[in-house]
Amino acid sequence: MTAETSDDHLLAAEKLEVRYGATQVLWGISFNIFRGKVTCIIGSNGAGKTTALNTIAGVLPVAGGKIFLDRRDITALSSRDRVKQRIALVPEGRQLFPGMSVEENLMMGCFLPEFRKQAQSSLSRVFDLFPRLKERRRQLAGTLSGGEQQMCAIGRGLMSSPQLLMLDEPSLGLAPRLVDEIFALIGNIARQGVTILLVGQNVNYTLQVSQYGYVMETGRIALEGPSEMLFNNDYVRRAYLGATEQA
Ligand SMILES: Nc1ncnc2c1ncn2[C@@H]1O[C@H](COP(=O)(O)OP(=O)(O)OP(=O)(O)O)[C@@H](O)[C@H]1O
Ligand SMILES: [Mg+2]
Repeated sequence: MTAETSDDHLLAAEKLEVRYGATQVLWGISFNIFRGKVTCIIGSNGAGKTTALNTIAGVLPVAGGKIFLDRRDITALSSRDRVKQRIALVPEGRQLFPGMSVEENLMMGCFLPEFRKQAQSSLSRVFDLFPRLKERRRQLAGTLSGGEQQMCAIGRGLMSSPQLLMLDEPSLGLAPRLVDEIFALIGNIARQGVTILLVGQNVNYTLQVSQYGYVMETGRIALEGPSEMLFNNDYVRRAYLGATEQA
């Protein structure tokens, strides 16, 4: 069965090739995002994880390959049209507007007219999920702690009620306690039925919160399988979990 013919797959990427100018970065990678589940991509720095997410979001054009959402070819859709198809990206490094309040930043998540009428209900849903953001709704985003900024970035991603939420390194730079908190929140969002594609630098947590994973190396998929299998895989343990031979 080819990727785009399965009902289990909300999104299927087929043989994606992406270049930055003359430099090819993705070499024909294929992966599926499982409906209602957390799928992850792990891999070392520079492997092409962010490039893959940006390609799905339509921020980067493909040099080859196709992207299917619910079996429909969306390869030619603009990033704006992909947001309308309820694909949301929470980018690496959060990219909040520091001089705007928490609430104003969240509202940027429903900038398209199609989403404006649901803004208030989306805002209450985000505040239910992140009570701390509600308390700080008038605070400038630039003065939030790192963990709160990440919550605000994830909250902004949820404002368009995405069917696919892509999270790029959500725990980057956070203290261990906050890393716990962010991964617990990702689990909560997934339990609400949102399909998630997670790129995680914290491989241990990322494999624990996800059900299926892809290991990317220099623009190719080196390994894939159920997250539990990857977690117990000797190669993954040595390369990404810091395990020694005996571990
Ligand atoms: N705008 C760009 N122009 C040229 N090369 C780029 C650009 N963005 C990324 N690259 C290169 O593409 C490759 C993949 O980068 P990418 O950011 O996708 O990796 P990554 O897996 O997300 O890494 P990290 O774990 O460090 O975030 C790297 O070699 C990077 O230098
Ligand atoms: Mg990256």
